[in-house]
Amino acid sequence: MISSIAKLPRVSLGNYPTPLVEACRLSAALGGPRIIIKRDDLTGLALGGNKCRKLEFVMADAKQKGVDTIITTGSSQSNHAVQTAAAGCKLGMETHMVLVKGVHIEPQGNLLLQDVFNSSVNILDVADPSEMFTTMLKKMNELADELRSKGRNPLVIPAGADVPLGAAGWVNAAEEIGQQLKEQKIDAQYVVLPHGGGGTQAGLILGFKQLKLPINVVGISVMYKKKAKAIDEVVTLFSETAKLLALDVAVTPGEVTVYDDYIGQGYGIITDDGIKAIRLVAQTEGILLDPVYTGKAMAGLIDLIRKGQFTPKDTVVFLHTGGVPAVFAYHQELATHETFS
Ligand SMILES: Cc1ncc(COP(=O)(O)O)c(C=O)c1O
Repeated sequence: MISSIAKLPRVSLGNYPTPLVEACRLSAALGGPRIIIKRDDLTGLALGGNKCRKLEFVMADAKQKGVDTIITTGSSQSNHAVQTAAAGCKLGMETHMVLVKGVHIEPQGNLLLQDVFNSSVNILDVADPSEMFTTMLKKMNELADELRSKGRNPLVIPAGADVPLGAAGWVNAAEEIGQQLKEQKIDAQYVVLPHGGGGTQAGLILGFKQLKLPINVVGISVMYKKKAKAIDEVVTLFSETAKLLALDVAVTPGEVTVYDDYIGQGYGIITDDGIKAIRLVAQTEGILLDPVYTGKAMAGLIDLIRKGQFTPKDTVVFLHTGGVPAVFAYHQELATHETFS
């Protein structure tokens, strides 16, 4: 392990290494590259996902500071918020969610799980998306003040735990992936993953660079229709995380690959190609993707294979970042209804 990461406080929330599995039937169906799936949907915290690795460092830091209450944010079907709620339960901390009203606000999927984990949930309707992050931060800080006045010691975790301590979890994951590829004698040139706030991509790029592994990390944006903004976030988080970990590596915007063509109408709105991708992976590999992140990322991978960006000679690791509980909130969009007639 990178020595500065080994020195960070860490709590154990997940099971590692997560499996790295061949997706032969998917690869054959696409006539494309060798596809390997990294199963971070199986981290084991709540119903799994990429936040587990981030929260191991973020929550350990909170614990060390005597925090007893966690406040965080996301959309109403946020996976990050649910994994934070689960981590809070495991560590005996209260959790409060300040969520943005998304496509599904019924008590299904992740919102149902918030109830099971006993979080307090406040769902806000933010009319102007450009105001969203500042509005949520303001609301979270107000709630933190209120809780402090009641004698609690709260910590506000930004959306997606996209902070250097969170990204450090993914620097560590880069080493885990590198080790598994070596052990399984797989020569992968790419990792393809969904890009939300960019912490996972930033951490992986930093880890691969530090370890001198020539693997291109390709982000499929599910958040920003302007890839320049997504790339900017990766570069900023990369630099802040490298500083935190005292690693002497740098990245330029030109080295960061993000595609912004697969979002459809917007964050959280399922696309037809996303639905097709979810059903294809389910029916070839028995693996469930999610409607908000990995379904769209897989739709991106499929389209990029069609466009010749990835050829049969390549080996691609698809990072399954979780999100599966949302499948149940999106049941109307996902079901063909043929099975039920
Ligand atoms: C399932 C899933 N995939 C990907 C992401 C995006 O991760 P990041 O914010 O690190 O880009 C998230 C987080 O919001 C998520 O829940």
